[in-house]
Amino acid sequence: MAATVSETLLAWYDRHARDLPWRARPGAAPPDPYRVWLSEVMLQQTTVAAVKPYFAAFTARWPDVEALAAAPEDDVMAAWAGLGYYSRARNLVKCARAVAERGGFPATEADLRELPGLGAYTAAAVAAIAFGQRAVVVDANVERVVARLFAIEDPLPGARKAIRSAADSITPDRRAGDFAQAMMDLGATVCTARDPRCLLCPLAQACAARAAGDPARLPVKAPR
Ligand code: ADE
Repeated sequence: MAATVSETLLAWYDRHARDLPWRARPGAAPPDPYRVWLSEVMLQQTTVAAVKPYFAAFTARWPDVEALAAAPEDDVMAAWAGLGYYSRARNLVKCARAVAERGGFPATEADLRELPGLGAYTAAAVAAIAFGQRAVVVDANVERVVARLFAIEDPLPGARKAIRSAADSITPDRRAGDFAQAMMDLGATVCTARDPRCLLCPLAQACAARAAGDPARLPVKAPR
């Protein structure tokens, strides 16, 4: 039987995963939920390159969620300076305090979603990456990969539902965290917005937009 999209992508990830400070080494125990959560919050609206020094500074100064929960909000805001979108830092403190209060991160997407200041994307990402739960993790990179793979022509943001359901259809039961990060890496390094490098893409054979000839056209964005 032909390998599924997820099997093909996971095999690619095993060889090509970016070595990032918040990731576990391939085959090692899953990474600490605190580090996963912190990195995912920082990576929303911010590039990997910009996040790296902040992630290092935060984890050196506040090595676990209890330490961050005990920090004065002003110290966290000052350490966040330069990353932008400051509501993320305020929510970070709120969330850290709630997690410390309950004695640690909950392990399911639904329970993570209940934490103050923790949104749908972060709940799915932490559930999948830190706890190995099957969760559908969709950020802008994943959106682009999926829109192309399935040749979803509806413009964003209206296409979000179709994209999520297509992403759901290829998310594996096992290694959902690796799968999510593989999709992100593919979007960041191969299936890029302007100049997709289809010759390097492990999913090229399965890609409907490539078959149709102009993958860079997708996803379509509604005029604003
Ligand atoms: N962007 C957001 N989260 C990411 C992750 N875990 N790996 C790579 N890029 C990301």
